[in-house]
Amino acid sequence: MGKLLYSAAMSLDGFIAGAGGDMSWLTAYLGPNPLVDELVGDVGALLVGNRTFGGGDPYKGTENEGKAFGGGWEGPSFVLTHHAPDRAVPGVTFVGDLAAGVAAAKAAAGDKYVTVLGAGVAHQCLDAGVLDEVLVIISPVLLGDGVRLFDQPGGADVRLERISLSGVPHGTNLWFRVLG
Ligand SMILES: NC(=O)c1ccc[n+]([C@@H]2O[C@H](COP(=O)([O-])OP(=O)(O)OC[C@H]3O[C@@H](n4cnc5c(N)ncnc54)[C@H](OP(=O)(O)O)[C@@H]3O)[C@@H](O)[C@H]2O)c1
Repeated sequence: MGKLLYSAAMSLDGFIAGAGGDMSWLTAYLGPNPLVDELVGDVGALLVGNRTFGGGDPYKGTENEGKAFGGGWEGPSFVLTHHAPDRAVPGVTFVGDLAAGVAAAKAAAGDKYVTVLGAGVAHQCLDAGVLDEVLVIISPVLLGDGVRLFDQPGGADVRLERISLSGVPHGTNLWFRVLG
């Protein structure tokens, strides 16, 4: 079975979205990133929180609007929500609970990664002990407010082991294994 990888672009002060879920901040820091280009080929499915699914898009107004990894990836998405829409969305399966979503995404991904998108879903995966790895791409900006990578006031330590460190001018890639 493949692994669960939480992947996000993050400001240096730890936010993956600005206040109110704003994603326009990221537009200035998009660009070629060899590590991400390589990762895209290893991703078999996405597990997505519904706020991410319906949220802002840093590619808005471009031909890659609405496409994962800037249009570089195609495949099945599993969107967690308590409010599945009545109409079908091509390529998207709406799932009502975490365990079912993880199982379905892993089955679809085979031996490839399931990439987790959304802080709330990633947090639940961590709590459930099913999150294997975390990749953050740190953008050279401070946002001051917004959605944190992990928001766990009063939470316990989670130990990580660094897998790799690399970078491009518009981002520093830090990849970790979750030790627990
Ligand atoms: N910087 C980046 O690379 C990056 C990447 C991804 C996302 N983002 C941004 O980060 C923000 C999203 O993170 P978030 O933490 O606010 O939200 P999220 O994790 O994307 O979505 C949370 C929503 O998912 C649904 N959900 C979560 N757990 C569920 C469960 N166990 N069972 C059923 N449904 C469940 C609920 O939707 P319902 O209310 O519909 O039930 C919940 O309100 C957005 O602003 C997004 O644009 C940034």
